[in-house]
Amino acid sequence: MEYDLDLLRRLAKKNLSEKRFRHTECVVAQARKLARLYGCDELKAVTAAWMHDVCKEMKPEEQLHWIEKYGMILDDVQRSQPKTWHGMAACGYMKCKAGITDPEILDAVRYHTTARGKMTDLDEVVYLADLTSADRQYEEIEHMRKLAETALKPAMKYAMQYALGDLVSRGQGISIDSFEAYNHYTQF
Ligand SMILES: [Fe+2]
Ligand SMILES: [Fe+2]
Repeated sequence: MEYDLDLLRRLAKKNLSEKRFRHTECVVAQARKLARLYGCDELKAVTAAWMHDVCKEMKPEEQLHWIEKYGMILDDVQRSQPKTWHGMAACGYMKCKAGITDPEILDAVRYHTTARGKMTDLDEVVYLADLTSADRQYEEIEHMRKLAETALKPAMKYAMQYALGDLVSRGQGISIDSFEAYNHYTQF
C-alpha cells in the first residue's frame, strides 16, 4: 500500500494545478536522484515527494481539517503561518487516502517546509529535492543544486540561512522547528 506510486501520482494530479503537478513530478525526480546519491530509501523518498504538496492548493479550512485528522494542534506561530500548513495537512491526507503510516515518510512530508532540529537523511533529501527541483528558478538555484548534490549537511546549512534570512527580511515569524533547524546546522 505504502508504495502504490500510481495511486500517489493520481492523488497529486487530482489535487494540483498543472503547474504544481509538474513541480511535484520534478521533486519526485530530484528526490530519487538525491536518495540514490546518499543511500537513502529511494521508494520512501519518492513516496514523500509525490505527497509533499498534495494539500497546498486546498482551502485553509480543508488544510486544517487534514491537520486535525492527523491529530495535530497548531501553536500560535504555526497558526499565523498558513503557508506552512500544507506539510502537516498532507500527513493526514496521505494517511487517510493512501494508507501511508510509515513515520519516516510522514515526517519527511511534515517537515518539508519548516525543516526541524534533528532531521533524518530522508527529511533532508526531501527538503532539498523540493528546493532544487528542475522547475525551480531563483537567483542562487545553481549554487544550491550543486551543494545539494555534493553534501547534505552543508546544503541544509546554506538552505536554512537562506530560508530564515528570507523570513526575517519579510518580517515573518519563524517557527520553533525552523529556528531549531537553523541552530542545528550552524555546526556544519
Ligand atoms: Fe511545499
Ligand atoms: Fe514543493
